[in-house]
Amino acid sequence: MDALENIINRQSSRFLDEPIPDREQLQKIYQAALRAPDHANLKPSRFIEVSGLGLNMLSEVFVTYAKKHIENISAEKLEKYEKAPFRAPLIIILISETKPHKSVLPVEQLLSTAAAGQNILLALNAMNFSAIWRTGIFAFNSEIGSMLGLNKSQQIIGYLYIGTTKEKKRQIPNVDLKKYVQTLKSL
Ligand SMILES: Cc1cc2nc3c(=O)[nH]c(=O)nc-3n(C[C@H](O)[C@H](O)[C@H](O)COP(=O)(O)O)c2cc1C
Repeated sequence: MDALENIINRQSSRFLDEPIPDREQLQKIYQAALRAPDHANLKPSRFIEVSGLGLNMLSEVFVTYAKKHIENISAEKLEKYEKAPFRAPLIIILISETKPHKSVLPVEQLLSTAAAGQNILLALNAMNFSAIWRTGIFAFNSEIGSMLGLNKSQQIIGYLYIGTTKEKKRQIPNVDLKKYVQTLKSL
């Protein structure tokens, strides 16, 4: 696939099924992720792969958290959280490990992991897989992080739900570039 076409036509999908990338394809996907821009080469990005029984474990983590923190949670809401990880056969949890640094702010390190996330989405698209980046109450959540074995400097910045979709490609809306792009002409 043409590189620019891959970027411009990438789209998310909510309906994801098998097949998922095999080990060799996943290696390429992580290589792409780890080519994200990275100030001072701090390598902030980490990934947790969740599939098979891992999805049951993640479901248990979500339910435990929701029961503890959401007062009088309804059965429907609890079921929604319980089922959430099963919306895709593979989830990659995007983690950013920020370190104190004399010139690189923590937010720059988070942004590097966000770029890694986009590289994953693009690599998947190039291989004809589909995905969606989700956050919600289980992202940027240190208690969920600790249940998943993360330390205090490691933050969950999102969940990439991954698989193959049968959905038809949507028409990519035209954007009026003038609304978003301007040229600095004078001060
Ligand atoms: C940081 C971040 C968090 C997001 N969180 C959610 C989410 O929790 N739920 C959701 O439906 N979409 C979420 N999205 C948006 C989708 O990933 C997706 O970009 C959106 O549905 C538009 O589809 P498109 O990528 O095909 O343009 C998030 C996107 C980003 C970048």
